[in-house]
Amino acid sequence: MKLENRKMEEAIKTLANWILESKKTLVFTGAGMDTESNIPDFRGKDGWWRKMDPRQVASIDTLYDNYELFREFYSARINLLKNIQPHKGHYILADLEKGDLISGIATQNVSRLHYLAGSKTIYELHGNIQTVRCNECQREGDVEDFLREEDCGHCGQKALRPNVVLFGEGLPMDAWQGTEKAVRNSDLVIIIGTSLEVYPVNQLPLFAQGRLVLINMEDVAIDYDFHLKILGKAGQVLENLDNYLRSII
Ligand code: OAD
Repeated sequence: MKLENRKMEEAIKTLANWILESKKTLVFTGAGMDTESNIPDFRGKDGWWRKMDPRQVASIDTLYDNYELFREFYSARINLLKNIQPHKGHYILADLEKGDLISGIATQNVSRLHYLAGSKTIYELHGNIQTVRCNECQREGDVEDFLREEDCGHCGQKALRPNVVLFGEGLPMDAWQGTEKAVRNSDLVIIIGTSLEVYPVNQLPLFAQGRLVLINMEDVAIDYDFHLKILGKAGQVLENLDNYLRSII
């Protein structure tokens, strides 16, 4: 067995034991959780922000100043998600919640894949891209209307937008407060597939009182005093974790 493999196996056993010891475990995910479902991340090697500047397409200023570009970018992302399915890692997390081994998921992802996989307690810190509202009258709209470039069916403004958090906007208060409380009250926080580069979400790990674990393809830039880092693909690591947990419980 290669040294890296043995290290990985030991790390997975350690994490499994910590999950069993923990009374409350929160999982915190980012775009790297979804890449194995063929959704590009933002800052990885094929990420969105390698090709464009987020502030040019995904900001509140773009919505006001260049609605066509804004609509084009989000339509492409909505269309990309049309035939996307959760991968085994999303289902494993949903099963862990059913088995009371994790208490919930806080996610920066707007894809709703945790929800599709059956997770119940989900804090959507950056909103979701599957529903839209009017930025003027704030009433709910129809995603297909947004894709067809239609105006708001209530107030007639050209202002339909997905319910995602744009650069320059605050986070949904309920998701933020729920996550903050969950992080503080958890014995174990498992962070999966995020560069932790985006504020204010990257402050959340600092509230952790218990163990902090990172599962990511690569190390992250900021030092959060992780108790354990597992560098690998989220889906594969979760599958190995699940297999080990099943062998001991
Ligand atoms: P990033 O693209 O910044 O980071 C994704 C991380 O996941 C990178 O470190 C990748 O190496 C890693 N990764 C990719 N595939 C992986 C896999 N299969 N398994 C494990 N790790 C993998 O994405 P986020 O940190 O989620 O915000 O980005 C945060 C926010 O920035 C997004 O929510 C979005 C973006 O701008 C808004 O749109 C408001």
